Amino acid sequence: MRALVTGCAGFIGSHLTDSLLAGGHEVLGVDCFNDNYARAIKRANLAGAHQWDTFELVPLDLSRGGLDDIVDEVEVIFHLAAEPGVRASWGGRFESYVRNNLMATQQLLETIKERGGGQRLVYASTSSVYGHAEMLPTPEDALPQPYSPYGVTKLAAEELCHLYWGNHGVESVALRFFSVYGPRQRPDMAFNHFCRAALRGEPLHVFGDGEQTRDFTYVADIVQAMHAAAATREAVGGIYNIGGGCRVSVNDALGLLTGYAGRPLDVSYEAVVHGDVRDTGADTTRARHDLGYAPAQTFAEGLLAEFEWMVDQERTTRIRRAA
Ligand SMILES: NC(=O)c1ccc[n+]([C@@H]2O[C@H](COP(=O)([O-])OP(=O)(O)OC[C@H]3O[C@@H](n4cnc5c(N)ncnc54)[C@H](O)[C@@H]3O)[C@@H](O)[C@H]2O)c1
Repeated sequence: MRALVTGCAGFIGSHLTDSLLAGGHEVLGVDCFNDNYARAIKRANLAGAHQWDTFELVPLDLSRGGLDDIVDEVEVIFHLAAEPGVRASWGGRFESYVRNNLMATQQLLETIKERGGGQRLVYASTSSVYGHAEMLPTPEDALPQPYSPYGVTKLAAEELCHLYWGNHGVESVALRFFSVYGPRQRPDMAFNHFCRAALRGEPLHVFGDGEQTRDFTYVADIVQAMHAAAATREAVGGIYNIGGGCRVSVNDALGLLTGYAGRPLDVSYEAVVHGDVRDTGADTTRARHDLGYAPAQTFAEGLLAEFEWMVDQERTTRIRRAA
């Protein structure tokens, strides 16, 4: 299979790219190295992919179009490129959310439509479309009520995918990811900050009282779900929750991290941030049934894997500074 991975240099996109290459597939990776975090981190995310002759990086901003040749070359498109993150989506940066989430998706869908629509698109949607969910765990047919500008743009792009399927037969599947974690997690995400602060013995900031819960999903489980969505004919036109299988509070996660760090954490609790919801929980019945989805990673093991990755990152940084 020859696949296009948009957002290939990002946290999740780079894991998916590595997995496709290891599985014998060819990957065309598109990324514009957006400034939501350091380009150097994104370049490092692709270090493994560049070892393969079957990987080609196309540095391109999807929102500007120019995708014709690229779309023609692939059978499957994994669309992860986006401006992620709830907190930054207020104020002046909203323009980037509209461009990178909505315009970029529209350009991609238009190109697929114009080129004949033969490719399957797997869209990386989010639990943020639910907002304060009316029930936990939340099934896919719960009313989407995003509580952040980010969630609004991701839901709008998900709707675009759906209507290009209905109107023009562009085959798409939307996967609603729930709080993804693991090695290479984005620097703006909580566990990345927590792991680094725990290792350095620096103050660690929690928004809210720490009793908020999330259905944390290990990145390898997300990758498995994306493979399944691309391979399952019956999934076309569908929407699937992809969660980790249990809800964990931030304070419970901090308890585990204290053990991994081997010392007490210096935690400060701060005001809840606008856009953050209290709890999330995925009803994954549909994904289990249709996609054979079965999250394999326990939370304690997954968090330890991210912590150990951060240990490596910190060691590399110290060596570079000393040289
Ligand atoms: N990380 C999570 O917990 C989570 C949860 C739910 C959904 N998602 C979704 O998963 C996807 C990947 O998230 P991530 O955490 O890996 O984010 P990330 O920022 O690490 O990766 C996104 C990548 O997309 C690229 N990009 C942005 N706009 C682009 C454009 N116009 N053209 C080309 N490339 C562009 C960025 O440079 C970046 O490398 C996103 O669609 C996000 O909304 C993530």
